[in-house]
Amino acid sequence: MALIAPSILSANFLKLSDDIHMINESQADWFHLDVMDGRFVPNISFGFPVIAAIKKEARKTLDVHLMIEEPGKYAEEFKNAGADILSVHIEACPHLHRNLQQIKSLGMQAGVAINPHTPVQNMFDVLHDIDVVCMMSVNPGFGGQKFIAHTIEKIKTLKAEIVRRGLSTLIEIDGGVTLENASSIIAAGADVLVAGNTVFSTSDPSDTIAKLKGM
Ligand code: DX5
Ligand code: ZN
Repeated sequence: MALIAPSILSANFLKLSDDIHMINESQADWFHLDVMDGRFVPNISFGFPVIAAIKKEARKTLDVHLMIEEPGKYAEEFKNAGADILSVHIEACPHLHRNLQQIKSLGMQAGVAINPHTPVQNMFDVLHDIDVVCMMSVNPGFGGQKFIAHTIEKIKTLKAEIVRRGLSTLIEIDGGVTLENASSIIAAGADVLVAGNTVFSTSDPSDTIAKLKGM
């Protein structure tokens, strides 16, 4: 059974408290929070004050996905805002090993996010230091995009390496997850499903979360 991480990017920011409450009461496992800086990705989302406010009401793990340049400069502030898992993009980190140690030393779980064009093999030499791989199945920056089919092959390759080495690294799939493709994503080896549009565009988001959880 996969973990489900609704993406707050698709929530109603005017009634964020209602959506946080819905997630608290639902079968969801994590809150997925997308931070964008307008440099690493062509969009700007939200930052510390919003995360800190969510932390006050959220009763589940805060999974913070940084789509920003120089994430090391801000890791401590994200910890202070309430991040439990902090994911940095491999493409933004020339010294990825250092970033992972920093995140862990701050008491968070360390995640590495990876763009669709980046081979999963690029992270193999630090795989034992990674708690969660946030594998992008769309180009990061926006919710509501179409799942890139080649991701399935990448999941299988990464899962085989994790199993071969006996690691407990989780594979999280981020972007374009739907009720139609979720079971094939899980079958390929995914442990965590992020879902924004699929959850929040439905009339009963809690029921949609339950359906994803049941797959
Ligand atoms: C995209 C974000 C995703 C996004 C997913 O850059 O990283 O987390 O919110 O949204 P959906 O599920 O709508 O593709
Ligand atoms: Zn994300």
